Amino acid sequence: MQTAAGKLMKVFLTRRIPPEGMKILSAAGVCEVSQWDSDEPVQRADLLKGVQGAHGLLCLLSDKIDAEVLDAAGPNLKVISTLSVGYDHLAIDEIKKRGIRVGYTPDVLTDATAELTVALLLATARRLPEGVEEVKNGGWSSWKPLWLCGYGLSGSTVGVIGLGRIGMGIARRVMPFGVKRLLYSGRTAKDYAAEVNGEYVPLDTLVSESDFIVVSCSLTPETQGMCDKAFFSKMKNTGVFVNSSRGTVVNQEDLYEALSSRQIAAAGLDVTTPEPLPANHPLLTLKNCVVLPHIGSATYSTRGIMGALSAQNLLGGLQGTDMPSELTF
Ligand code: NDP
Ligand code: DGY
Repeated sequence: MQTAAGKLMKVFLTRRIPPEGMKILSAAGVCEVSQWDSDEPVQRADLLKGVQGAHGLLCLLSDKIDAEVLDAAGPNLKVISTLSVGYDHLAIDEIKKRGIRVGYTPDVLTDATAELTVALLLATARRLPEGVEEVKNGGWSSWKPLWLCGYGLSGSTVGVIGLGRIGMGIARRVMPFGVKRLLYSGRTAKDYAAEVNGEYVPLDTLVSESDFIVVSCSLTPETQGMCDKAFFSKMKNTGVFVNSSRGTVVNQEDLYEALSSRQIAAAGLDVTTPEPLPANHPLLTLKNCVVLPHIGSATYSTRGIMGALSAQNLLGGLQGTDMPSELTF
């Protein structure tokens, strides 16, 4: 695709992306690609420089795309393609105002993320990291009736906050463990919840009646800081809390307090504030807190498909054709 001046359109990639995506961009032969050629995030100054004059921007969830970036890009910018389903890092109002199209990666990462969330729930509830550590450090002295006991899913009540694509994937996966009640909360009740016998309840009911609470909603002004002192104080003392949505849905000081005072039993987090969580963060001193480095969608195959989809979205936006996954707003 060429500009009016007969030049190829310019795109800026804020990171190295999976080869599946790069192959699609090269094969299309319609754009000149410049890239922050690293596995680490682009510095703000380099982002502002790299995006100048770009027609397309392919970014990651760690890049804050706001008015400053859009201004730096200038009027050529037609499309932003993010290698993620979450788009809370994009200033949607500013983007919309400028008529820029947005591509994202829903569906293709649902299974991988739901699977990881259930793995994290089980690891947290059954204390797997503690057990592994005890084997390694010589703490395993014998089989002991009350040692390393945790909580099982069988006969339990699970509460899913945000029964969207991933929330439903999580619900489908936990039901075969013998879960007795599946509660969910969100903005609206869902017809499809019938498949998992899901009961739509107010958030307070979900929090006080669930043995396991899984947060899988999107980050919005309403969900930011939703899991705070009041929230944790309503949970059962035996309750297990899991978050694989975004870190800022949780007030981490309040979570630390709830875990260290045994107000709640345990927490598993795939997402934190900030990311990375500093190695000396208080949450990491707690045995009843399992923290993963935001790896929900991290399977080779899923990341390859996300790379390909984000490249196709970018090309669709550049060429003014359909994008396989366009965000409508
Ligand atoms: P969906 O849009 O399908 O689901 C989002 C859900 O959030 C919807 O069910 C929505 O409910 C719910 N929600 C919105 N507002 C609220 C609210 N105020 N209270 C409770 N629920 C609310 O998105 P996905 O399932 O595909 O992804 C969800 C999120 O997971 C992403 O936005 C991203 O942040 C995160 N994610 C994390 C990954 C990881 O690696 N850990 C990987 C992929 C995604 P309703 O429809 O009723 O509004
Ligand atoms: C997303 O897609 O929003 C995740 O957080 C990473 O896959």
